[in-house]
Amino acid sequence: MAGDRLGTAVIGVGLIGEQHADVYAAYHRANLALVYDANPQRAQAVAERLDCRAAPDLAAIADSDVALVSVATPDFAHRDAVVAMLDAGKHVLVEKPLATTVADAVAMVRAAERNNRHLSISLGNRWSEDIQDLRDCVQSGEIGDPIFGFSRLSDTVWVPTQMLSWGSESGPHWFLYPHTMDYMRWIIGQEAKRVYARGEKRLLPQKGVDAYDYVQAMVEFENCTITFETSWIVPEGYPAIVEQYLSLYGTKGKVTLDRSNRGFALDTEERQLTIRPKMWSYFKTPDSWGNSMRNVVDCILDGGEPAIPGSDGLAVVAMIEAAERSIETGQPVEPARLIQEHA
Ligand SMILES: NC(=O)c1ccc[n+]([C@@H]2O[C@H](COP(=O)([O-])OP(=O)(O)OC[C@H]3O[C@@H](n4cnc5c(N)ncnc54)[C@H](O)[C@@H]3O)[C@@H](O)[C@H]2O)c1
Repeated sequence: MAGDRLGTAVIGVGLIGEQHADVYAAYHRANLALVYDANPQRAQAVAERLDCRAAPDLAAIADSDVALVSVATPDFAHRDAVVAMLDAGKHVLVEKPLATTVADAVAMVRAAERNNRHLSISLGNRWSEDIQDLRDCVQSGEIGDPIFGFSRLSDTVWVPTQMLSWGSESGPHWFLYPHTMDYMRWIIGQEAKRVYARGEKRLLPQKGVDAYDYVQAMVEFENCTITFETSWIVPEGYPAIVEQYLSLYGTKGKVTLDRSNRGFALDTEERQLTIRPKMWSYFKTPDSWGNSMRNVVDCILDGGEPAIPGSDGLAVVAMIEAAERSIETGQPVEPARLIQEHA
C-alpha cells in the first residue's frame, strides 16, 4: 500500500482493461502500481500515460505487493491469470464473463476459496441506476410474482468483425449473456433450472468470424420463464451499436426497459437522422461502471464482501454453457448438473 491507498494492477490493458487502470489511477483509495499485457507496447503506452510501471510478466505482478488485480484479457483467457494471482495471495476482479467454460469458472472459484481471497466480476449493468431501480421495484413486489420475461442484448456486426480480434473464440452468448443472464437472475432473485436454446452460424462465418449469428435461450427459473435473445448480426445501419431491451410480467403488473436508442434524433426542415453514438464515447463505459473496481477496493480496505461474488459468475457461466450444450444436443440442459460434473 502507498500510504493508505490499496496497491492495484491490471492484466490485459486493451479496450476495457485500460478503463480499469483509469479507475484505479483516479480513485483516491487506490494506487495503480503495475499493468501487464501480452503486447508489451500496449502495456508500456498505458503505463506511461498513467504513471505506473509495465510488468514484464505475470510473475512480476505475483511477486509485487499489490493487493488487488483486475484481469481483462479476452473472454476465453481469464483462467490462467486469475488462478495465478489468487494463488499468489491477490484479490481478483475479472471482466465478464468469468470464463467460457464451467470447468474454468469452477477452477477460479475454488482458487479464491483455497486462498481465502475475494473473486469478483466487473458487471457494469449491476451499477447502473435504472437497472438497480428496476430490481428494487421488482423485489419490493410492485409487479407481484414474476411470471415471464424477455431480454435482448445484441451488437451490430461491427463488434465481431471490427472491434474484437478474437470474435471466433467467443460469440454473442459469451460476450453478451453475462450481462443479461446476470441481471435478470439478480432482478428476480431466482436460480436457473433448465435451459433450452437454438443458435445458428450462417452469416458470421461468411464474414470470417466462426461464431453464432444469434442465440435464443428459454430459461426456466424456479418460478418464472425468461427468453434471452442475443445476436452479433444487427446491421450496421442500426442507430446504435447495442440493442438492449427487457420486459418482465408479474401477477400485478409489468416492467420494461428500453436502452436501444443511445444516439440522438436530429430533425431539420431537410432531414430526419438518428445519430449513433461514436465508438469512443459508447465504449468509454459510464463512470458508474467503475463501481465494480471501487467496491472491491473498499471491501479490502474496510472489510466486507464484494457486491458481485465469484459464485454469481459461475452461475451465469453454467447457464451459458447449458445454452451451448442445448444447441448441440437439441435437448434442455440443467445448469446445476454442469457444475456438479466438476464437484
Ligand atoms: N463491460 C463491458 O461492457 C465490456 C465491453 C467489452 C469487453 N468486455 C470484456 O473485457 C475483456 C477484454 O475485452 P476487450 O474488448 O478489452 O478486448 P481487447 O482485445 O481490446 O483487449 C484484450 C487485451 O488483452 C491482451 N491479452 C490477450 N491475451 C493475454 C494474456 N494471456 N495475458 C495478458 N494480456 C493478454 C491483449 O493484448 C489486449 O491488449 C473481455 O472479457 C470482454 O468480454 C467488457
